[in-house]
Amino acid sequence: MDRRPAAIYDAENRWGRDDDFFLAAVDETPAARVLDLGCGTGRLTLALAAAGHTVTGVDPHRAALDAARAKPGADRVTWIEGTAEVLPEAAYDVAVLTSHVAQEIRAEDGWRRTLADLRRALVPGGRLVFDSRDPAARRWERWTPHDSRRRVALPDGTAVEAWTELTEVRDGLVSFVHHYLLPDGDELRSPGTLRFRTEAELRADLATAHFTVERIHGGWGREPVGASDDGELVVIARAAD
Ligand SMILES: C[S@@+](CC[C@H](N)C(=O)[O-])C[C@H]1O[C@@H](n2cnc3c(N)ncnc32)[C@H](O)[C@@H]1O
Repeated sequence: MDRRPAAIYDAENRWGRDDDFFLAAVDETPAARVLDLGCGTGRLTLALAAAGHTVTGVDPHRAALDAARAKPGADRVTWIEGTAEVLPEAAYDVAVLTSHVAQEIRAEDGWRRTLADLRRALVPGGRLVFDSRDPAARRWERWTPHDSRRRVALPDGTAVEAWTELTEVRDGLVSFVHHYLLPDGDELRSPGTLRFRTEAELRADLATAHFTVERIHGGWGREPVGASDDGELVVIARAAD
């Protein structure tokens, strides 16, 4: 298995203000049963478990889960390979989807099914917390090789040259390729497509899935939508009875 993509992901996505936000949001329910859907390499999952929560991390990507399982403290977490379809009923107090997992669920029927599965997996009154970039901020306009060029320092002391190339913007879907130039001259290319949903679309989908929206913030400082350069839609919703 190629371990480089997971190592680069972790090096590029160090603990940030978004992680502080999600940890604080979960901590509002002490000793919660937490679902981290789309847990990836387990960055936040492990921190939630270390904070005393009972955590389940679910992700369909085996290589990311393998990287998560190999980290210190991983034995405190229940790891499941899959999507929301595999979740048990009324088993969690809080569910989180972090680092824009919601946008990776591109098909509208798949997204609506995911919300319905999350509603089923939460106890009545349980909270769903997730982020989705606000299309009004048009963040993809910065995803050019020039504006996005960056150096990613790896734990072994080497550095990767990285940049992002926007390839298509169409019908609410934004496609791009992340490029990583490795010290040995190899280039890794990581293509992706994200769905950008408006606040109104998110609210409508949540209502259909029987969630009550408590707040939608525009950034990690809990600003109103549109008032932060973060350009986020950070949703806190409750599973209706
Ligand atoms: C950008 S990563 C975020 C990982 C992690 N939440 C974090 O904060 O670092 C997005 C993750 O979403 C996962 N994903 C994609 N489609 C999914 C789906 N339908 N259900 C659950 N996870 C999904 C991917 O496998 C990937 O690990």
